[in-house]
Amino acid sequence: MPIDFTNLPKTELHMHLEGSIPVEALFELVKKHNRLDEAPTIEHVRKRYEFDDFAHFLEVYKWTVSFLKTPDDYEYVAYEVAKTLVRQNVWFAEIMVGLGNSVKYGGHDAAQIVRAAWRGFKAAEVQHGIKIRVQIAAGRDHGAQFSLDRLKDIEPLLDEVDICAFNMGGSEHVHPLPQFAEVFKRAHEMGLRVSVHAGEVSGPQDIYDALDLNPQRIGHGIRAALDPTLMDELKRRDVALEVCPVSNECTGAVKRLADHPLPRLLAHGVPVTLSSDDPAMFHTSVTREYEVAHEVLGVGMKSLIRIAREGFKRAFMDEGLRREMLGRFDRETRKWCHTRQIEYPV
Ligand code: ADE
Ligand code: ZN
Repeated sequence: MPIDFTNLPKTELHMHLEGSIPVEALFELVKKHNRLDEAPTIEHVRKRYEFDDFAHFLEVYKWTVSFLKTPDDYEYVAYEVAKTLVRQNVWFAEIMVGLGNSVKYGGHDAAQIVRAAWRGFKAAEVQHGIKIRVQIAAGRDHGAQFSLDRLKDIEPLLDEVDICAFNMGGSEHVHPLPQFAEVFKRAHEMGLRVSVHAGEVSGPQDIYDALDLNPQRIGHGIRAALDPTLMDELKRRDVALEVCPVSNECTGAVKRLADHPLPRLLAHGVPVTLSSDDPAMFHTSVTREYEVAHEVLGVGMKSLIRIAREGFKRAFMDEGLRREMLGRFDRETRKWCHTRQIEYPV
């Protein structure tokens, strides 16, 4: 019988708010904003979430963001997305709020939508106990000055909203990272931690470039598996990868899920966490990522439990909370293992 990972305590460290909106919630916004001509039923929304390649994916993404028209919409989707995590026994999540499409095309004020998303996350914490932190994200496609401007926009919020990190996604094969050095320097100066998407669709050089920006973690980074020296360097610097196998299959970053390099990264000892990226658009969930790692990629149960624990170790949370969560993780996961006759590996 396949193992069900739903109740295993987990983190979610790589998730985009805009790519995680359940179809039902997006359909509510379609109706609210009188755009039923574009998607008359939930099934139409589901169909619009399909795409052919990475560039098309970024287009669909933009379409989704076009329904986030008011701060209330952000608060609503933030709460709905948080609920999807609560149902999977995710105790701690970092959710990226994208400031690219929303500010550039949606005309939003960055601080206003971050504040609104935070209200949704806090409501979920009060109702369900889940702890959520905000990562600010911008796309490479919008250029360095755009990100610098957004960092300035959110600076006054730092005492009010728990913004744990700055992140950058977008088209890595078109916009190399060295041009963003100033942006990441500023993020560090502001006291933010840093994760950056790199080596998702382009080669190892993109990950070397990412390391020059001093990130604590790297989003995807799967192309490191092509370069043993680079894997050694990730270990030496203790930089963890946020690996999202289903996303990689959906965007074409890997040709076949079965060929995903996760097992090679693990065998080399690279620190790894598991996440879902844009779960609504990739028809996945963090639970499913564990299932896929186990059933399709052959990652053993002990490794998967260590990966779940690694999530709590790598999360951008304060040390008091980390101690508390790791203690609770050990107690509860020991029981989870016991009922499944798995030896607790920690
Ligand atoms: N923005 C949202 N999802 C992304 C991904 N998988 N890669 C790059 N940018 C993104
Ligand atoms: Zn991502």
